[in-house]
Amino acid sequence: MTSRVIPVAPFTLTVFGATGDLSRRKLIPALFHRDLDGQIPDEAAIIGVSRRHLSDEEFRGFAHQALNDHIPASELQGPEVQRFLARLTYVTADADSDPGWAELAARVGSQPDHIPVYYLATAPHLFGPICERLGKFGLADKGRVVIEKPIGKDLKSALALNEQVGRIFPEERVYRIDHYLGKETVQNLMALRFANALFEPLWNNAHIDHVQITVAEALGVEERAGYYDTAGAMRDMVQNHILQLLCLVAMEPPSSLDADAVRDEKLKVLRALKPIDDHNMAAVTVRGQYRAGASAGGAVPGYLEELGSDRSQTETFVAVKAEVENWRWAGVPFYLRTGKRLASRVSEIVVGFKPVPHSVFDSAAGPVESNRLVIRLQPDEGVKLWLMIKDPGPGGIRLTHVPLDMSFAKAFKVRNPDAYERLILDVVRGNQTLFMRRDEVEAAWRWVDPILAAWRGAKEPPRPYTAGTWGPSASIALIERDGRTWLEDGA
Ligand code: BG6
Repeated sequence: MTSRVIPVAPFTLTVFGATGDLSRRKLIPALFHRDLDGQIPDEAAIIGVSRRHLSDEEFRGFAHQALNDHIPASELQGPEVQRFLARLTYVTADADSDPGWAELAARVGSQPDHIPVYYLATAPHLFGPICERLGKFGLADKGRVVIEKPIGKDLKSALALNEQVGRIFPEERVYRIDHYLGKETVQNLMALRFANALFEPLWNNAHIDHVQITVAEALGVEERAGYYDTAGAMRDMVQNHILQLLCLVAMEPPSSLDADAVRDEKLKVLRALKPIDDHNMAAVTVRGQYRAGASAGGAVPGYLEELGSDRSQTETFVAVKAEVENWRWAGVPFYLRTGKRLASRVSEIVVGFKPVPHSVFDSAAGPVESNRLVIRLQPDEGVKLWLMIKDPGPGGIRLTHVPLDMSFAKAFKVRNPDAYERLILDVVRGNQTLFMRRDEVEAAWRWVDPILAAWRGAKEPPRPYTAGTWGPSASIALIERDGRTWLEDGA
């Protein structure tokens, strides 16, 4: 099976922070892959911008190295590599001063028919100054701007940041990336819900017992400790990725996949989240921080050692029992959990259905377990629907729980594209469906801020957990108090 490739319109993509980590690890490889697949038109141009003094040739060398580091050698054999590198040019410019900007304006302006896209792969405090200069040098008139999290560290700073960007770019030309929305299986969640008549009648509190969303990472914070310590798991993962997943599970069917139709529905979910503050924080949230332990068979240091400090209250693990207060979901808990240095890297959504109302089987048949739909985001993307069947063989009815198991890798023999491949080209296509609107980001902070305040007020340190485990035991207690258990690895 091959994927359908429709080339996009000619564009000029300017990447600010072009020599940084995001550009090297994600943007350059993603653009190359799309080019390799023939989706980038011949005229398209990519301009790297950063403060470093580099020639076009040196920037191409940097990009070539990024390809060597992040793309299998077998995909780098053909003439496509040179064709891709030839698209790249470089301009030295600083967000805070004018030199270089006139040259950038001349390069972008030399292609008046192209769609101008500005990707701000920089620290967020530069978003405002870069947008201002884009405006000042006449680059913003038709341009689209792409920004990434962290969009603020609380509601106040998010409002200020959105305001700065919004002074120059109208909302319909602002693309706020949450790369989880570009993941294949996350988009599949929409296909599963809205392209199958099977699920929608069951997708409510009459039939669903609870939902679990786990985004577990095996890695620690490593060299990102400096940034991470100012954020923590709530800001780094829950405020954005996990709440977006929750929205896609819980939202009403939109009338179309039109960007605002989808985002209106997600916004309603965010606004319906039951507030968590100092009254209920202790009962429904757990935060943790990893200590030294073992991962992938080797000893690994604790968070504080990685940070090089003996004091930090930053959480590397969060579990929350969230509730969506509306008719569809009243009484259905959404258990959310994420953390660094957990037992394995796994992201999945488990939709647990209610038990059968009455069992017709005797005790020899064994328990009748509830159905579960497991949507595996990574690794081994796929969908499992757990059903009860009769264990084959003679000797009466014995029941067993088995999955209808669809692994995407086995079903489709295509490379699973990285989220950025889809998202960058969606910007060129002018499709904002998979990007967060300003009010969504702000609504997410409105829910998160009181939780952070309650944690600060409680003055309790995060609970320790050993690296390589599933987090603090309080997280297990959080769900077991309700008579349920966390499910892992497609179980
Ligand atoms: C980023 C977070 O947004 O997502 C990181 O800042 C995290 O801390 C990463 O590791 C996880 O993304 P993925 O695609 O590897 O699941």
